[in-house]
Amino acid sequence: MTQRSERDVLDRLMGALVEHTRTHFDYEERLMLENRYPGYTLHKDEHDRLIQHILALAEQYQRGDLLLSFAVMVDLKGWALVHIEKFDMALGMFLNRPEPVTGIGASAPKNGTR
Ligand SMILES: [Fe+2]
Repeated sequence: MTQRSERDVLDRLMGALVEHTRTHFDYEERLMLENRYPGYTLHKDEHDRLIQHILALAEQYQRGDLLLSFAVMVDLKGWALVHIEKFDMALGMFLNRPEPVTGIGASAPKNGTR
């Protein structure tokens, strides 16, 4: 592979990383809002912080820091593992929680007979 084509591949990968991350975070944030997730603000703040970090890395990369690709991979892998374990698993447990039984007579038969 020539230096030019390597650079093209890296350019596309960096763009895809930013786009995929935004799309994924938007999806999660929509799920949190639709389900009134109590940890929304903390989780969203973490997403915002990470997007800013990724954009800063992408900017460094655009300025020509080609060694950044390795640093990005190491950095993002570490972040992803922590984020999934700390934030996304908690959201998954919340979304998959059993439905609460609410209301007076919630267990009564629907046709009113006993
Ligand atoms: Fe998340």
